[in-house]
Amino acid sequence: MAKIVGAIMTSHVPMIGRAIANRNLQQDPYFKPFFDGLHPVRDWLARVKPDVAVLIYNDHGLNFFLDNLPTFAVGAAPVYHNADEGWGLPPFGSFAGDPRLSWHVIECLIEDEFDIATCQQVVVDHAFSIPMLLLWPDERPVRTVPILINTVQHPLPSPVRCAKFGRAIGRALESYEEDIRIVVVGTGGLSHQLEGTRAGFINKAFDLECIDSLATDPSRLTRYTSRELVALAGAQGVEILNWITARAALEGAVREIHRNYHIPISNTAAGTLLLEPLAA
Ligand code: DHB
Ligand code: FE
Repeated sequence: MAKIVGAIMTSHVPMIGRAIANRNLQQDPYFKPFFDGLHPVRDWLARVKPDVAVLIYNDHGLNFFLDNLPTFAVGAAPVYHNADEGWGLPPFGSFAGDPRLSWHVIECLIEDEFDIATCQQVVVDHAFSIPMLLLWPDERPVRTVPILINTVQHPLPSPVRCAKFGRAIGRALESYEEDIRIVVVGTGGLSHQLEGTRAGFINKAFDLECIDSLATDPSRLTRYTSRELVALAGAQGVEILNWITARAALEGAVREIHRNYHIPISNTAAGTLLLEPLAA
């Protein structure tokens, strides 16, 4: 049977993509504290060697625009191409899919009463490509399954709904009959707001509370509404919904392997968290 070996949460700021494209920038004092925080995660990945990464993230207008925006969607393509989104980044190529696992997840989620959109074509944006390149900078050894959550246009799913969705994703993955190792990756956050009168808003105290809650008691975060998350973390900081979902894929007690928090990368408080199920 498949096994979930851990959950990784990390930010997906396009400016990180610029430092990935120009490796010299990773030693720059501006980026170094963030990139240094990835080393323990890469060491863990080299040890645990997952076969598949399930990426939980929000599309930023590349596939879905405001006129057509599913709350939850699952990709089921053999390959996912990264496309230019206007951030000035070079396209980062393609990522292998795992359609068989995707359809298993889709069938389980629908059976579990999550009426998701199923996407046989998905172009992946920085919220997918940047975490993939942060985690596997030199090779692409894993197949991928993209799971997309609307964190963009209200009404957003609630944190409690995202936690239920994440647990259903976990159940679906654990019921897959192949002996594969799966890592769940939640991307986005932490606090940031890109526009309006609060552009540049960062809430360190709340970010640290989020990391602590996800590591020790995720139910604390599900007490908020999505609108409260917007107030506390910023209009785009509500991407923490992707972290809440990824965390909920892990059942039972977890062990914290690593955390890192650094302000700012671009407009964002950048964080990384790696949790492993205690049973692993
Ligand atoms: C930034 C952060 C994001 O999450 C994003 O999707 C785009 C830009 C930023 O801080 O620049
Ligand atoms: Fe984003």
